[in-house]
Parts: sequence; C-alpha cells; structure tokens
Amino acid sequence: MAPSRDNPAPAPLTVVDHPLVRHKLTLLRSRDTPTAEFRRLLREISLLLTYEVTKDLELRTVAIHTPLEAMEAPMLEGKKICFVSILRAGNGLLDGMLDLVPAARVGHVGLYRDAATLRPVEYYVKLPDGLAERQVIVVDPMLATAHSAIAAVTRVKQAGARALKFMCVLAAPEGVAAFRAAHPDVPLFTAAVDRELNDHGYIVPGLGDAGDRIYGTR
Ligand code: PRP
Ligand code: URA
Repeated sequence: MAPSRDNPAPAPLTVVDHPLVRHKLTLLRSRDTPTAEFRRLLREISLLLTYEVTKDLELRTVAIHTPLEAMEAPMLEGKKICFVSILRAGNGLLDGMLDLVPAARVGHVGLYRDAATLRPVEYYVKLPDGLAERQVIVVDPMLATAHSAIAAVTRVKQAGARALKFMCVLAAPEGVAAFRAAHPDVPLFTAAVDRELNDHGYIVPGLGDAGDRIYGTR
C-alpha cells in the first residue's frame, strides 16, 4: 500500500557504515575475539552509534563567560534524554552511551527469548518518570525476529513515551521488516543488516549470542 496520511511511510532505517564501525564490527563478529575484547569493542561501537542517533537532539542556549568575553552557547538538556536497555545484552551498549550523555535517565526492560517459540518472556521493567517529555532511545545489540524489540518498545510506549528511537548493532532483514511494521513511528539505527535468520532465529553471519559473548556464559 502506498504511504498516505492515514498510512504514513515508516520512519527511516539508518545503517551507520562508518569505516570505524565496520572495522570494529568485523572484530566483534570473529569467534576468536575473547570476552574482554568483545565488551570493549561493543562499548566503542556504542559510542559511534550514539553519535549518529543523537544527531538531532535539542539544544538550549546558556550564558557563559569564556576567558575572553561573555557569550550565548548551546547546551544539551541531558535529563530530557532516556536510554532504555533491553536486558541483558543492552547493558553492553549502555556504558558507552552514558559516557557521552552522563545526565541521561536510564530504564531497563528485562526480556529473554524463549528458545522454542522465539517469543520474549518479560521478567523486569523499571522506567523513569516523565517519559512523555523525554527523547527515549531503546537499545539492544541484536534485532533478530524483532519480537524482543517490539515488546520492549510497546512497554515503553505504554509508560508514556512518545518520541522514541531504536538502536542496535546487527539486524536481520526479517527483524527490520517486522519492527517497522509494528512501530512505523520509531526510527531504527544499526551498524549492519545481515543476510537472514537461520532456523533457530539467529542472525547469519551474525556474531552469535550477544549476551553470552558479553558475559562469557555458556
Ligand atoms: C537476545 C538479544 C535480543 C534478542 C533478539 O537476547 O539481546 O534481546 O535476543 O532476538 P529477537 O529479535 O528474535 O527477539 P536473549 O533473549 O538471548 O536474552 P539475553 O540478553 O538475556 O541473553
Ligand atoms: N540473539 C542473539 O544474541 N543473537 C542472534 O543472532 C539472535 C538473537
């Protein structure tokens, strides 16, 4: 169906394919990359993705004095930003994001994917107040079937959020289509869209199980 006023085109998909991101993603994917290195690379990639995702954040003007003169200068209203991490792998991205926006509020949505049904099972939700006034960025390294991302964004919208973005590191084409159909108002940012999902719902070529690789489990 062609986009119309009642059926608007979905928000954009942005693939952040900066050479630094592509280089670090290759290292992240490699099965030979050990846990500590995997965590470090994920944090670095999160910094680079956050730079892109936050490109249109609102600034206010404040009065400051440089050593030479007074001036009006732009400043972020950090408290108006909220990062929501989908546990547990989302936490691998969070520290880098908070390095860039230390005043951001942080929410958590705990979900794990049932291995048989590939449906998310919710076990924890804690979100800051006042979400309607905040720019909310929901994060998880992996968008596979997108069931987890769709459920988390639905939860955050139910809590009042109106301005949302979703940031991941790797997406499957199936997940991108499902997410954009479920939440056409939410812009999507990723470092890469891989070939497909395999029969177990894993992204291929992918990087494996993000949570296990971050925390050294399994
Ligand atoms: C992984 C990943 C996403 C989800 C993606 O989490 O971090 O949350 O799978 O898959 P989907 O798009 O098909 O829903 P997992 O369920 O393995 O939980 P974990 O973070 O606790 O390891
Ligand atoms: N979750 C992961 O961690 N990796 C995948 O490839 C799919 C879901």
